[in-house]
Amino acid sequence: MSVTVFFIDQTQHKVTYQAEKGDKLLDVIHKAGLPVEGTCDGALTCATCHVIIDVDNFSQLEAASDVEEDMLDLAFDVAPTSRLACQVYLPDCEHFTVYFPQDF
Ligand code: FES
Repeated sequence: MSVTVFFIDQTQHKVTYQAEKGDKLLDVIHKAGLPVEGTCDGALTCATCHVIIDVDNFSQLEAASDVEEDMLDLAFDVAPTSRLACQVYLPDCEHFTVYFPQDF
């Protein structure tokens, strides 16, 4: 199933990208050409893939693991709906909105 992903930065600049249910969010971000590093490639040792998820979409996700929560403690500008993009898989939804804690 197709999921329309909206990426929005701090200046409200918006990028739209078409992805699929089950896609890893960090892969979608990289395919969209957006500047989120993901330095450790999902090994949960860097927190450079920190993003903030729309509150409705956040509730559709599997809960973060304890290790992810520990890494989020090291990220900047963390919000109640923060996640590490390398640990997020797109749920069954039409739209999924991701806020970046930095500008594109
Ligand atoms: S890519 Fe390093 S924690 Fe997500």
